[in-house]
Amino acid sequence: MSHAEEPRATRRDFLYYATAGVGAVAAGAAAWPLIDQMNPSADVAALASVDVDISNVQEGTQITVKWLGKPIFIRHRTAKEIKEARAVKISDLPDPKAENSNLPDGAQATDENRVLDKEGKWLVMIGICTHLGCVPLGNNAGEYDGWFCPCHGSQYDTAGRIRKGPAPRNLQIPVAKFTDPKTVKLG
Ligand code: FES
Repeated sequence: MSHAEEPRATRRDFLYYATAGVGAVAAGAAAWPLIDQMNPSADVAALASVDVDISNVQEGTQITVKWLGKPIFIRHRTAKEIKEARAVKISDLPDPKAENSNLPDGAQATDENRVLDKEGKWLVMIGICTHLGCVPLGNNAGEYDGWFCPCHGSQYDTAGRIRKGPAPRNLQIPVAKFTDPKTVKLG
């Protein structure tokens, strides 16, 4: 390649990569600024387990932390959200399985089987839509007061269970537990 051709080739490469990245950026744009803000440090992604301090997560809010390269939603649910989730019959759920890594495979998707504590105040989920992997929007989004995935319109309820749209499964619950009342251990 001559020097005269080189700049054109570089420019073509740049345009190709810029175009290829547009879809991914648009899909996650709403959620990732929060993740970046809440992420304790970049090297957390490399750790197999991580302790998350939840003492500042007020009722009715959630944080998103990055763990093993994935966004993890930690929500402090309101009484209304808990009530809504517990009123749902299993027969009304497209995915009747708990999808909870802390429970046996056959566990049902009751609200009690989705949450981290007995009262149901804390919901911890992998924030990746089970359709094609976008990051759903939270904070009472969508028709079921839970999470909404804008990519193709999947609607999740206040327990992160799929209720409507193309996603086949409930949002996955990762391995997680309380190590003290203010700390959730992921992994
Ligand atoms: S990726 Fe969420 S609805 Fe398609």
